[in-house]
Amino acid sequence: SALPGLLARAPKAELHMHIEGSLEPELIFALAARNGVALPYASVDALRQAYAFTDLQSFLDIYYAGASVLLHEQDFYDMAWAYFEKAARDRVVHAELFFDPQTHTARGVPIGTVIQGLSRACADANDRLGVSGALILCFLRHLSEEDAFATLEQALPWRAHFIGVGLDSSERGHPPSKFQRVFARAAELGLQLVAHAGEEGPPAYIEEALDLLGVERIDHGVRAIESQALMARLAKERVPLTVCPLSNVKLCVVHDLADHPLPQLLAAGLAVTINSDDPAYFGGYVNDNLLALFDALPRWGAREAYQLLRNSLEASFAPQSQRAAWV
Ligand code: HPA
Ligand code: ZN
Repeated sequence: SALPGLLARAPKAELHMHIEGSLEPELIFALAARNGVALPYASVDALRQAYAFTDLQSFLDIYYAGASVLLHEQDFYDMAWAYFEKAARDRVVHAELFFDPQTHTARGVPIGTVIQGLSRACADANDRLGVSGALILCFLRHLSEEDAFATLEQALPWRAHFIGVGLDSSERGHPPSKFQRVFARAAELGLQLVAHAGEEGPPAYIEEALDLLGVERIDHGVRAIESQALMARLAKERVPLTVCPLSNVKLCVVHDLADHPLPQLLAAGLAVTINSDDPAYFGGYVNDNLLALFDALPRWGAREAYQLLRNSLEASFAPQSQRAAWV
């Protein structure tokens, strides 16, 4: 069929990817050698063998260990540049990158080192690859709200280098309500607001993210499928869901792609988008997600492809003038 080529070549936005989750094992080993960081794995293959996850936490433990090789501004630049080269090949015209400053500041890396390296890669991606990139600062929800406040204040000298804030890491037991005050502060600063909700957490966490944090998009949100009332609300309000199909399979959120709730979410009128989450860990980049999904869903065709990719462009935080050129 013509569909794989259409999916691969069509312009698209990626709205849910963690830049630390784009660190391929080869780059982890190269940066470890460059920085003299010891790794608890003997080889690239041994590290890749450890990528057998049973839930979100079993992934996060390895993901934070991988990020320990990032020390200098150039490391953050090299990581993001490698992602942008892959994104350009996937015909991503706009990418909003999550980053986790607390993972780095806790190891003594200044927040300015993190932001400057990532921001320089965004500028070069725009100039040399024609990919517009933007940064979203994520708070780690397993840490305190006080720690999130301190992180936001530390980032303010680089306010012009990021467009929004998000919420990630261990969802269960860390509801959005825990971060209500820091999100209110971010809103005052004119930042865009998003949060992971309804990946492992219940539908009530999606409602909290909307009602207590005031987010404009929900990251994952797949457990909305358990509440008819919430599904109706998300459809009516056209709240985008940034869904990550291969991630959901690898973290056992869904059993396999053929059982994914995406067809019901799309049919119910929700503004769903397809994203890679942590492409180095979950089996591929955005086009790999699209191809695997359409392969697993034989009833989906060009209509669904067009809708999903148009949703990604429309749900982006790119200025209206830029979005008008896409859709
Ligand atoms: N969920 C929560 N936190 C994360 C994820 C995720 O899928 N990826 C990286 N941090
Ligand atoms: Zn995520």
